Amino acid sequence: MSDQKTALVTGASRGIGAAIAAQLTADGFFVVGTATSDAGAESIDQRLGDQGAGVKLDISDADSVAAVISRVAEIASAPLVLVNNAGITKDNLLMRMSESEWSDVIDTNLSGAFRVTKPVLRGMLKARWGRIINVGSVVGRLGNPGQGNYVASKAGLEGFTRSLAMEVASRGVTVNAVAPGFIATDMTGALTEDQTKIMLDRIPLGRMGEADEIAATVSFLCSESAGYITGQTLQVNGGLLFG
Ligand SMILES: NC(=O)c1ccc[n+]([C@@H]2O[C@H](COP(=O)([O-])OP(=O)(O)OC[C@H]3O[C@@H](n4cnc5c(N)ncnc54)[C@H](OP(=O)(O)O)[C@@H]3O)[C@@H](O)[C@H]2O)c1
Repeated sequence: MSDQKTALVTGASRGIGAAIAAQLTADGFFVVGTATSDAGAESIDQRLGDQGAGVKLDISDADSVAAVISRVAEIASAPLVLVNNAGITKDNLLMRMSESEWSDVIDTNLSGAFRVTKPVLRGMLKARWGRIINVGSVVGRLGNPGQGNYVASKAGLEGFTRSLAMEVASRGVTVNAVAPGFIATDMTGALTEDQTKIMLDRIPLGRMGEADEIAATVSFLCSESAGYITGQTLQVNGGLLFG
């Protein structure tokens, strides 16, 4: 196998994850990108060409994670970069939120990151080099009515990031989060015109962000130049939240 480093990007079929996968291939990584369907995995395969591969993964299912970790070992070197990007929303006011709306979001966004990170960590510790990037959200700090489940998952990811960063820093592995603001993807496309306008009015830069702008931040955190940054959450939100 060559010296090319492998990056595993969850949820790479569209939106922010697709932009991250494209950017990391441009940075020289062999990128394994995941989708929840065979068709999605196939389209990632085609998009990344010989610089990557698409695999099917459901991060809420431990067996699916185990199968993907085995598959990655067959097609690439052990991932030294992991981007926990896959995420879902199931919005509802808390008074109306069902048990499954709560647990599906926590199980995917937060427990999913745990499930994928744990087996991937071993290779990074062995190599004494690694980069883990968790994709959080500005609402993890701000809060958002109707998103108690999602906000709890994203705030949880930030705490997970800090604790893991402390555990693995001595082995050359950095762990950071990127917290996007309001980014133009399918996820925000589901919002009504009114919801979009209210959000845009609150953003000092006066526009939605682009998936490429999140990918550029992830790219930096994966670089050698970012080797002294760990345990941080980088906000990329057009000024919606400072600090
Ligand atoms: N867009 C925003 O404004 C925004 C803001 C803050 C944070 N974020 C965060 O950024 C990340 C990407 O968001 P996005 O806007 O690009 O979302 P998106 O367009 O809805 O894409 C979600 C991605 O996650 C994958 N996915 C969903 N459930 C999965 C599961 N159980 N197992 C594995 N993969 C799964 C999807 O795969 P399929 O295509 O197969 O369904 C897809 O690739 C998410 O963590 C989101 O919370 C987004």
